[in-house]
Amino acid sequence: MFDIKNISMIYDMDKEEKMYALNGFDLKLPDKGLIGIIGPSGSGKSTLMYCISTLKKPTEGSVKYNGRELVGISDGEREKLRREEFGFVFQKHYLVPYMSAMDNVLVAAEKNDVKTVEKAEEFLKSLGIGKREAGKKPAKLSGGQCQRVAIARAMINDPKVVFADEPTASLDHENAFNVMNILKDYSKDRLVLVVTHDRSILKDVDMMIEMWDGNISRIG
Ligand SMILES: Nc1ncnc2c1ncn2[C@@H]1O[C@H](COP(=O)(O)OP(=O)(O)OP(=O)(O)O)[C@@H](O)[C@H]1O
Ligand SMILES: [Mg+2]
Repeated sequence: MFDIKNISMIYDMDKEEKMYALNGFDLKLPDKGLIGIIGPSGSGKSTLMYCISTLKKPTEGSVKYNGRELVGISDGEREKLRREEFGFVFQKHYLVPYMSAMDNVLVAAEKNDVKTVEKAEEFLKSLGIGKREAGKKPAKLSGGQCQRVAIARAMINDPKVVFADEPTASLDHENAFNVMNILKDYSKDRLVLVVTHDRSILKDVDMMIEMWDGNISRIG
């Protein structure tokens, strides 16, 4: 699905000493499965995920998605792709503070019909967010509940790829485990990429990418 070639990323191009956040490597990702990206802080995990998902543009290299080059596509094409095919979960949930949990999920949905509302309700329920919680604003929910709402939001359009950057960072062990189960389940038919520091939540991955200093140090 993704064919990445010679990808590199330099932040602060104008500085004298160039710091490679990604240091020129190739990577192929399959159509489905759960992919873990692990490595120490600063090793380039987030940068890699953002370059693959068009949130950032690599300094060099090529990212092909189903044969289509993503580096350098127009803003409009990028937005369309992200809206229609990609879902995102970040470490911070970025929920809209003045909307209920339910509306935060629905705002990302392509349609807003009765069926979508039912789907959102069911989705939230499977994530342990009942009707009562779904009516509350983020400030009235716990960090873990907000994170699960963000996951429902990322998945409401059935994205072909889910990009999750430290999705369990603000969760206790039980909730982290739940979230990983949901992502694992989703990865049976779709591609799910999860960046994390925490090896213990990545027991069930289909592929593990280990990063070190802007390079892939191991793929298992
Ligand atoms: N916006 C930015 N501007 C300048 N340098 C950056 C920026 N974002 C990241 N970097 C640098 O690029 C390198 C890789 O950062 P990245 O965020 O990809 O690491 P990471 O593996 O996700 O780390 P963490 O586990 O702490 O999230 C680091 O040295 C970082 O300082
Ligand atoms: Mg990061």
